[in-house]
Amino acid sequence: MKEATKYSEADIDGLNRQLGGKSAEEIVRWAGDAFGGDIKFANSFGAEDVALMDIIGKTAPQIRVFTLDTGRLNDETYQVMEATRLRYEDIPIEVMFPDREKVESLTREKGFFSFRESVELRKECCSIRKVQPLKRALAGVEAWMTGLRRDQAVTRTDTPAVEWDAGNGIVKVNPIIDWSVDDVWTYIKANKVPYNKLHDQHYPSIGCAPCSRAIKDGEDIRAGRWWWENPEFKECGLHE
Ligand code: ADX
Ligand code: SF4
Repeated sequence: MKEATKYSEADIDGLNRQLGGKSAEEIVRWAGDAFGGDIKFANSFGAEDVALMDIIGKTAPQIRVFTLDTGRLNDETYQVMEATRLRYEDIPIEVMFPDREKVESLTREKGFFSFRESVELRKECCSIRKVQPLKRALAGVEAWMTGLRRDQAVTRTDTPAVEWDAGNGIVKVNPIIDWSVDDVWTYIKANKVPYNKLHDQHYPSIGCAPCSRAIKDGEDIRAGRWWWENPEFKECGLHE
């Protein structure tokens, strides 16, 4: 039987006080020491995540890494996945696929672009291709780590460095929550980190291919994600 977990919801405020003002490297090192192989980093291979992957590789390589391969990613995303795999060869990347039967019946019954028809149908696709595989990836671990940043979206402005993820019943650690987009790119360039080439084509935020587009000058950084929806709904369910 798995031992009782190290932290509960009651510890979160204290952890945020303890880690307040610490750098991303210090938070990653703390997470590696606190959870060892019982924490997993969710890597989408976007700019934030490749920077965080580099910090993990340098400071806490015992942290496990997974990605959610929705089956609808851009080729450029697979290219940076491969470049990352080769660069951090000691850190295996667990690739989580959606349930085959659910994808088969979704596309058979509702077609290949059902997510354009309503928020409900979009969330159904995200649930099958992202949220359910996430739950499978997190089964049995005590914590997970993300590359969330507070100024990415209206839905993230109050997110702390350490959260209680009630849906999964585990701790969630967001080491670069305070970083600006400039901090991300300064880190990537200074450390020559491989990144998704779509970022050079005006894609600040990259998800699945049919749900991400380039933005125009002056548009919000998440304007290209699910652009047909209202900003308050623009979460896929990974971070609710
Ligand atoms: S999303 O919810 O809108 O898709 P976003 O692209 O901003 O999320 O990424 C926020 C964080 O969610 C990433 O830093 C990463 O930790 C996690 N994440 C998002 N998509 C994936 C994915 N496909 N695989 C693994 N982690 C992901
Ligand atoms: Fe489906 Fe789009 Fe969500 Fe990807 S981002 S899982 S294609 S709705």
